[in-house]
Amino acid sequence: SSPPAAPAPLPKAELHLHIEGTLEPELAFTLAERNGVTLPYASREELRSAYSFTDLQSFLNLYYALMAVLRTEDDFHDLADAYLTRARAQGVRHAEIFFDPQAHTARGVPLATVINGLARALDAAPERHGITTRLIMCFLRDESAESALATFEAARPHLDRITAVGLDSAEVGHPPSKFREVYALAREAGLKCVAHAGEEGPPAYVWEALDILGVDRIDHGVRCMEDERLVARLAAEQLPLTVCPLSNVRLRVIDDLADHPLPAMLDAGLLVTVNSDDPAYFGGYADDNFTAVRDALHLDDATLRTLARNSFRAAFLDEATREKYL
Ligand code: HPA
Ligand code: ZN
Repeated sequence: SSPPAAPAPLPKAELHLHIEGTLEPELAFTLAERNGVTLPYASREELRSAYSFTDLQSFLNLYYALMAVLRTEDDFHDLADAYLTRARAQGVRHAEIFFDPQAHTARGVPLATVINGLARALDAAPERHGITTRLIMCFLRDESAESALATFEAARPHLDRITAVGLDSAEVGHPPSKFREVYALAREAGLKCVAHAGEEGPPAYVWEALDILGVDRIDHGVRCMEDERLVARLAAEQLPLTVCPLSNVRLRVIDDLADHPLPAMLDAGLLVTVNSDDPAYFGGYADDNFTAVRDALHLDDATLRTLARNSFRAAFLDEATREKYL
């Protein structure tokens, strides 16, 4: 007799996913060949073996280097379509997807090429994959505030395709307050706001994201647990945190998954979600993260269902659609 079928993954929303971080070695080599780009790795295996990180910056170095293969609208389309295929197999029904425009425009790839390629894949996703999507445009916090402002102005013709702005890349030394002005413009334009904060940076950066940027969600935020008043504030407002467990271990934000603060965050009444961040680099997509925390932290089924439900509560969905998922 055949073994029992694996249970279907819980339906969930993915709220912290960098599309550039879904570039698998196989697709990287395919696109390199298609575009005549030479990668400094002889094989997929050699590239995979470079996926050993000591901190956020050591990951970012490889993340930005591999983007050299992304050049055409088709490349961005194929990247997003490959992600959506994997996401659906992991139970994802709704995905809010980050992209890093400055990482592409700095290499001479026009913003319209990036957005049109991604949008073509996202527009087809409900029918092709059974996934609804949102696009979140991130500013690179280790670039200047002026560069973020110029990026926002360049994106104005495309704002109908963008739901929110975000803030990513090297955190320490680049506090949210640096981006006060561009977030004010984004809010005036009717966009939602999120920001990475409290991944490697201190709780003070989470306070700034709340009080100065006016964010609707915090990405990562695990270091909030060092500040009792901050935890109380986040819990009282039910301000969502998009936690990425496998990322935290790979980037050594957390030593061991068994020591992850996720259970303590839930116990503190925080609206926590589980997400994959850069799944091609960190060893797992959405449900892989659910399975990993289930096993390492001995989470029961009710807790896993709470995490899945939280993902829809925290999503930028209209209320009628949200109700369907809750
Ligand atoms: N943190 C900051 N910047 C990033 C990340 C992250 O986890 N992934 C891609 N850019
Ligand atoms: Zn991230």
